Amino acid sequence: MSEELRLLVRSELGAVSKVHAECFPVDPWSVRDFMELLAIRGASGHLVASSEAGITAFILDLIGPDDAEILTIGVAPAARRRGLARVLIADLMKRARHKGARRLLLEVAADNHGAIALYNSVGFVLLGERPGYYRLPSGKADALIFGVSLARTAEQS
Ligand SMILES: CC(C)(COP(=O)(O)OP(=O)(O)OC[C@H]1O[C@@H](n2cnc3c(N)ncnc32)[C@H](O)[C@@H]1OP(=O)(O)O)[C@@H](O)C(=O)NCCC(=O)NCCS
Repeated sequence: MSEELRLLVRSELGAVSKVHAECFPVDPWSVRDFMELLAIRGASGHLVASSEAGITAFILDLIGPDDAEILTIGVAPAARRRGLARVLIADLMKRARHKGARRLLLEVAADNHGAIALYNSVGFVLLGERPGYYRLPSGKADALIFGVSLARTAEQS
């Protein structure tokens, strides 16, 4: 299967929001939600897609002068554990470094053990906690803040 990682274009937002709903059934984002986020200076979206499977993974991020942030990341259930999230994060780290950002940050629900394992596996460390940050139909949930330094290592320079 020939998969490619590329910039998300506006005409694909409907398809991306469907994959987002598969990844986040409790809080799916509409096309409008995506458009509002992508209108922020420094925000962009990237995806993994193939002609056979369509869009299988996405990431939205915000790259600022010092910090970059993962706004959302998701991989379609059928495409998980094939390294797609890791590839999207590695690509974001490269883009953020290129633009001079020094740190990559994210927030994750404290009970999202799969995502936390992913972030640990690519070098993120726990920076803090926001108790009751997420408001869900089932109640409030804690958020954890993770970060990773984007400083160049000897191998990368
Ligand atoms: C979390 C998510 C993005 C991971 O995507 P993925 O493409 O399956 O992840 P990868 O294949 O790149 O995984 C890389 C590593 O992360 C860890 N990992 C990923 N998912 C994991 C899981 N469910 N359980 C345990 N470890 C996991 C593993 O160490 C994995 O390496 P391995 O497969 O060699 O063991 C995906 O499960 C998803 O979309 N979940 C729903 C949305 C979500 O929670 N997004 C994050 C919100 S902050």
